[in-house]
Amino acid sequence: MIPKIELHLHIEGAAPPAFIRGLAAEKHIDISGIFNERGHYAYRDFWDFLRVYEAATSVLQTPEDFARLTRAVLEESAANGVIYTEAFLSPDFCGGRDLSAWRDYLAAIQEAAAEVEAQGGPILRGIITPIRHFGPEKARETALCAAETAGDFIVGFGMGGDEKAGEPKDFQYSFDMAREAGLRLTCHAGEWGGPDSVRRAWRDLRVERIGHGVRAIEDPALVDDLAEAGVVLEVCPGSNVALGLYKDWRAHPIGRLYERGVKVTVSTDDPPFFHTTLTREYDRLAEALDWDDAVFHTLNRTAAEAAFCDGATRAALI
Ligand code: ADE
Ligand code: ZN
Repeated sequence: MIPKIELHLHIEGAAPPAFIRGLAAEKHIDISGIFNERGHYAYRDFWDFLRVYEAATSVLQTPEDFARLTRAVLEESAANGVIYTEAFLSPDFCGGRDLSAWRDYLAAIQEAAAEVEAQGGPILRGIITPIRHFGPEKARETALCAAETAGDFIVGFGMGGDEKAGEPKDFQYSFDMAREAGLRLTCHAGEWGGPDSVRRAWRDLRVERIGHGVRAIEDPALVDDLAEAGVVLEVCPGSNVALGLYKDWRAHPIGRLYERGVKVTVSTDDPPFFHTTLTREYDRLAEALDWDDAVFHTLNRTAAEAAFCDGATRAALI
């Protein structure tokens, strides 16, 4: 199995339905409405997905819940040959952006990750993530949590959520605060917004990676600019297909972006929501694009070079 590096994984989004159901039962919370008859997460479109995602996340209520989740997620990563993962962590879902609560959640996540790493499992690093549709004010509180806990484990700041909510420049203050605290930057763009949305995130937030970014393909000049600047795209093809952005794997633009010299990487985003794993992503890409191990090694090298961890950790991945 190819050793894999994953740069784009939401920790709550990686919670299997059975894990969430188990916590809901322990806490006597009724979230049965978010599952279909086969017990899978059920949503109609991206915006409904966000609702289901937030409902599932509502049962994660203590630092210990997140420690358990971290262990479960890393176990699944290890089973897929993942050696290094950057996970999006949202203080919104960990004590509501209260700094002292956030420190407790973070300590639990970090301790669980350190145990896994000490036993030879995947290395985990965190990217703190405001939720765009929660608005710029909450993003500032999130950025404060990020700035106060930046270090060897919290290495980045990103932004997920509804790309249609607000403009990147509304969040400039938060990204500036994170950058000044030494954090590396990424932002979801070019998923539900077009090439302009990618340009604005790139220009106004001065990010070095883009989450998804795939709709850059609709503007050839932007594709050239991204390739020339070496901006890394965290592409999640299975997520894009499952959410209906592209009708199937063959229609997905990752192959064209790669051919045009854009630095692409492959991740799962929220694997149980999309019935995927990183292994499955590689298998589907091999089938749809005729990609071989040499291509996958290139993608993993790109991911290693673009990882936000410290130089020594990064050097060991390359
Ligand atoms: N949060 C979790 N998954 C996401 C996605 N695909 N896009 C934006 N925000 C997200
Ligand atoms: Zn994402």
